[in-house]
Parts: sequence; structure tokens; C-alpha cells
Amino acid sequence: RAAPDTYPTGRPIQVVAHRGASEDVPEHTLAAYRKAIEYGADALECDVRLTADGHLVCVHDWRVNRTSNGRGAVSSLELADLAALDFGSWRGQHADPETPERDLLSATARTPLAAGPADTADAEDGDADERSRVLTLRRLLELVVDTDRRVELAIETKHPTRWAGQVEERLLDLLRRFGLDRATAGEPSQVRVMSFSSRSLRRVRLAAPGLPTVFLMQYVSPRHRDGRLPAGVGIAGPSMRIVRANPGYVARLHQAGHPVHVWTVDDPADVELCVRLGVDAIITNRPKQVLSQLGR
Ligand code: G3P
Ligand code: CA
Repeated sequence: RAAPDTYPTGRPIQVVAHRGASEDVPEHTLAAYRKAIEYGADALECDVRLTADGHLVCVHDWRVNRTSNGRGAVSSLELADLAALDFGSWRGQHADPETPERDLLSATARTPLAAGPADTADAEDGDADERSRVLTLRRLLELVVDTDRRVELAIETKHPTRWAGQVEERLLDLLRRFGLDRATAGEPSQVRVMSFSSRSLRRVRLAAPGLPTVFLMQYVSPRHRDGRLPAGVGIAGPSMRIVRANPGYVARLHQAGHPVHVWTVDDPADVELCVRLGVDAIITNRPKQVLSQLGR
């Protein structure tokens, strides 16, 4: 049987809920992920960042200004600070899904992080909290393992250079604790790690060879034009803009042995194109609509 991050996968096209069912429920909240599972999404996508006290939280932007009632960089706030904010009542827009953050902060952390204590801040979630409280990755992993059907999780490492390996280290620690750092007998790994940084993915591949990796691309660099990607990378993650401009690239990636996961696919015409090209996963803010377009 083929490995989970080589093409062909032998699996049907996946619908991946980008930041949860983020069209309907505030992104990256527990409620957004519950909704995506309820809709029938095959997988969930989340971005992770480290707080100042060493917790991995699911937040897209480098700072909390767009998605909460607070201000400041995630990396300079502690989990308790984030837990006091409201991530549920913002009326903002998705950040442009095709212009992800550059690493805006300095290349390395000035002070090493202390070992993170248990993520107690979200221990007592009620329904309202699920729509508004910052979500730790630990809580999201609990949701995934507690769900009574298989739901996969695509975790994107953000600011991987800022903390010089600590995002990946913490991530792998946590995955190991849940037994989610490898494939289990007869099934592909339930978790995969995505990044725009090939260095981040290489770190993951070295430390956890059983975890599929997804190399996100917002443009195609000349050295990847033939479909071959950096060492340590299994799955290709081109933007929809790349696929629209160059549909033949999907076949080249496939020929090079890379499954193709496209983001962010919200327009029905784009969904149709992805299906026609035989991509392996559609990452969307609208899992309900995409599932229904696929007749599911
Ligand atoms: O799923 C990949 C996609 O999420 C990458 O862009 O900026 O939405 O994290 P961004
Ligand atoms: Ca993302």
C-alpha cells in the first residue's frame, strides 16, 4: 500500500474545513470545528502559534487584533491573557487567504520558553466559551480523538523561524501524548503538518518520519516548476491561484509522486476545476457547500 503522503493515495478527494467551518462560525473556535465535523468534513485545518508561556494555540494572524477584542502579538501574550479575550464576536474578514504572513518578527526567540504547564485555561468550556474562547491545540486534539468517526487534522506551523524549532518541538510532544504522531496499523496518519517553511517540515520529518508533511505554496519557485519539491516534503499545497493560472501543474506534482491539497477553494467553479484535475484535497472555508457540490 502507498504511504499516506505519496501519490496515488488510493483515497477519495477530501474536504478539509479551513479554520473550522469558518464561513459560518468564528474561525479557529471549538464551535467552528464542531460545526465542520457536524457537516461531515473529512479533515480540519488549523494554524498554530506559541504563546509567551509556551502553549500552542490555534490563531492565524501573528497578532490577535483581527479575531478578538484584544491587541498584541500572540507570542508576547500568555495563555491566561488570551483566555480573557473574546474570539467569537468579531466582525472581521478572513485575512486574504492567498497572502499569508511573512515572518514579521525576529528570526529567533530572545528567551527560551519554559516548559508549558497543562493547558488549564480551557478546561471548563461551556457552549458560549466554545464560540468565543481561544482554542488550544490540546483541546482540538481532544475533540479529534473523542469524535466517533475518523476526522483528520492538518496543522499548519506559523512563525516557524521565530522560535527556532520550538513550535515543531511542542507540536510533536503534544502529538506523541495523544498517540497521533504516526500512522497506526492499516490506517494512514490522522494528522499531517503543513507549512510554507520547508525548514519547518524538514524538522518534523526528521523527528517524526511517520507524519505526512504538506508544503504550502503561494507561488511556484523556479526550482519546483517540474513538480519536484524539497526533501522531507510529501504533499504539495498549492494555492487555488496557482492551480487556476497553471492547471497542468497538478499533473506535474502527481507525476513527481506528490498528492495535491489545494487552498482556499470556496468558489464552485474552483471546486469543479479541482475535481476535474483530480486533486487529493480541497481546503475550504465552506465545507458544507463543497460537500454538497460533491454530492455528499
Ligand atoms: O491551508 C493552507 C492555508 O491555510 C494557508 O494560508 O494564510 O490561510 O494560513 P493561510
Ligand atoms: Ca492555515
